[in-house]
Amino acid sequence: MAKNNLSPTSITSNLETHFVGQRVIYYSTLTSTMEVAKREAQQGAVEGTVVIADEQTAGKGRKERAWLSPRGGIALSIILYPSVVYLPYLIMLASLAVVHSIEAVTGLRSQVKWPNDVLVNGKKVCGILIESGVQGNIVDYAIIGIGVNVNLRLSDFPEILPTATSLSDELGRDVSRLDMIRRLLVEVERLYLALPAGESIYEEWRDSLVTLGKKVHVKSGKTIYVGVAESVARDGSLLLRSLDGSLTKIVAGDVTLRH
Ligand code: BTN
Repeated sequence: MAKNNLSPTSITSNLETHFVGQRVIYYSTLTSTMEVAKREAQQGAVEGTVVIADEQTAGKGRKERAWLSPRGGIALSIILYPSVVYLPYLIMLASLAVVHSIEAVTGLRSQVKWPNDVLVNGKKVCGILIESGVQGNIVDYAIIGIGVNVNLRLSDFPEILPTATSLSDELGRDVSRLDMIRRLLVEVERLYLALPAGESIYEEWRDSLVTLGKKVHVKSGKTIYVGVAESVARDGSLLLRSLDGSLTKIVAGDVTLRH
């Protein structure tokens, strides 16, 4: 299995972006790329700076959960300085960038599970974490963290085997992590620059959600909602039709699809 290390030059060389990925900070092993990216952003790193690690020892998932991040996967964080009005769209653009990159590099079709898990054949292949520093209406920084299970044999990781997959397990062969990373950076920049036309990103994201029209459980804080995921609002929240007919707007939560 190809667990070869990456190099910053191999990522940046002839990369067809204006700023995303033009500066790469690379680690072989790191606690979490989010931590370093946050520190870099607070010190004014140039927009588009990417922090990447071959392996994370304390990868962060949503809601303070751990993210398993062994060699063979992709773990990267991208520093951006968007206007506050574009913050809700970062979730959408990141998941779409992953969907596009997976298809371009492997031919596999993937879908988004609200809010931002990317699934292949119903199993999670990528997790996305957005962290931002905001004061009033001013965004100090936003960081898009992306973890993709690329060349992992999921049978080596029984704790996530029931719900997760990897690109190599799905294809039966290894995938170039370099091709995936470079494509991802191009897609992130393309979609980010298209944000002023935010409508189309929202619509494409909505249409790629596997969640809509399905019976779901949504755990949001300590509350569990049950109903049909009817739609998503432009701010990214989920609109859930409960059994009593009422419509609830859920800003953040974990969805379980019910069969
Ligand atoms: C989730 O599904 O809970 C989100 C997982 C996000 C993981 C990525 S890997 C790169 C970046 N660094 C981290 O520590 N987390 C994100």
